[in-house]
Amino acid sequence: MGWVMFENNPDNASVIRMKGGIPLYGSVQIQGSKNIALPIIAASILVNGKCTLSGCPDITDVDSMFRLIESAGAIVCKNENQIYVNAENINEYCMPSRYASVMRSSVILLGALLGRIGEASIDYPGGCVIGKRPIDLHIFALEKLGAEIDIVGNKIRAKAKKLTANTIHFPFSSVGATQNTILAAVYANGITKIENAAREPEVTALCDYLNKAGARVVLSDNFLNDGIIEIYGVEKNSLHDVEYSIPADRIVAGTYLFAVLATSGRVELQNAPIDNMNSVLHTVIEMGAQINKDINNSRIVIEVPDRNMISNLDFVETGIYPGFPTDMQSQLMAVACTSKGRLCIRENIFSNRFKIVDELKRMGAQISIKNDNEAVIDGVASLEGRNVIAKELRGGAALVSAGLAAEGITTVTDIEYIKRGYEDIVNDFARLGAQISYD
Ligand code: EPZ
Repeated sequence: MGWVMFENNPDNASVIRMKGGIPLYGSVQIQGSKNIALPIIAASILVNGKCTLSGCPDITDVDSMFRLIESAGAIVCKNENQIYVNAENINEYCMPSRYASVMRSSVILLGALLGRIGEASIDYPGGCVIGKRPIDLHIFALEKLGAEIDIVGNKIRAKAKKLTANTIHFPFSSVGATQNTILAAVYANGITKIENAAREPEVTALCDYLNKAGARVVLSDNFLNDGIIEIYGVEKNSLHDVEYSIPADRIVAGTYLFAVLATSGRVELQNAPIDNMNSVLHTVIEMGAQINKDINNSRIVIEVPDRNMISNLDFVETGIYPGFPTDMQSQLMAVACTSKGRLCIRENIFSNRFKIVDELKRMGAQISIKNDNEAVIDGVASLEGRNVIAKELRGGAALVSAGLAAEGITTVTDIEYIKRGYEDIVNDFARLGAQISYD
């Protein structure tokens, strides 16, 4: 087959094929953030008016969330640059299984629907299979606000004649449960206080959006330390027309940085959310890359003149923000496979997020797993191209990085996972000079 360098169409493709060993040069625009867009689209259910969103990533998870709010009665229209949601007539509380069951973040529609129409029925959420993903914290918080929740078979039914503010202390930090609680509390009577809320940028962006629409969500002065959020309930249906630009995706930006570490080259990331990337940037610099940041223009330039400059750190563990993100763990593992020395990664957030290990080993990586949540990677001189399978979103993207660095041809199958979070990873890398195409 010939290499199609540009604009090869991702829609029907299920395989990515690449020839590795080519350094990356050029510049790439970072898409809007999936994990910010999803709760913001769900939050639009609370807005008794029109929401104008720009920078929404064109990915399958976002599409599913739009289908879900349409089922609730929202009208969604798109033009090239913006998406308009009219949520004046939200009237349906039963969410269709087809979209809800495939995506973890559908669960935050519980808070939004309860807040707006006092009732919700939704499938137990799906999403990437990266370990046990219970929703007990979501249910605990919504019940604290006065909702009655029943789980029958695979359906979650929630009802609340009225929601009343409360203090909710989370025993550990959960991004989704924090978002769900905020959504349910916007129209609750009184002041809801969340203690030990998740501090991720995906939470603060949701607060920002709701405040622009007329909600009163206040982060404590010391938010990164104490995780306290207060939501002052506002009059029912008072959230009004709002315009919002979805911030850039810190995980996509990090994925592209790690791809340059794996292949060498010089790449400029445009529209990079630099402020939210400290731990990843720190790791990349410590491993030997040169980084230049232009904070005013949201640009990062990464330069790796020679692959041999890259060495493994001894130990990296994932953590809640501002720690090293679990969503970057597979990408770090992929680059560690061909970096000098030994890296031990400890995964502290999810119980089964090492699905990529067998695939990397088939490419020649030396990895062993200890205590279920620790992986020890001994760098080898190079990986070899193989047919590998994407088993979840970030692991799939990391396999693309591994393939770009490997000797020979790599094919990654089951790329539906990758399309859930990356608009067009193939053409992004092709523009940087990689020999890569959809197959
Ligand atoms: C969000 O998932 C992200 N998803 C994930 O990104 C990300 O990995 C994760 O936060 C952590 O940063 C979206 O934003 C759509 P959590 P979420 O609740 O909200 C446990 C990606 O690749 N937990 O913070 O589901 C849970 O099992 C994805 O884009 C409970 O025990 O994550 C996990 O171990 C994948 N009970 C930990 O908490 C609960 O009720 C943190 O999960 C909820 C969570």
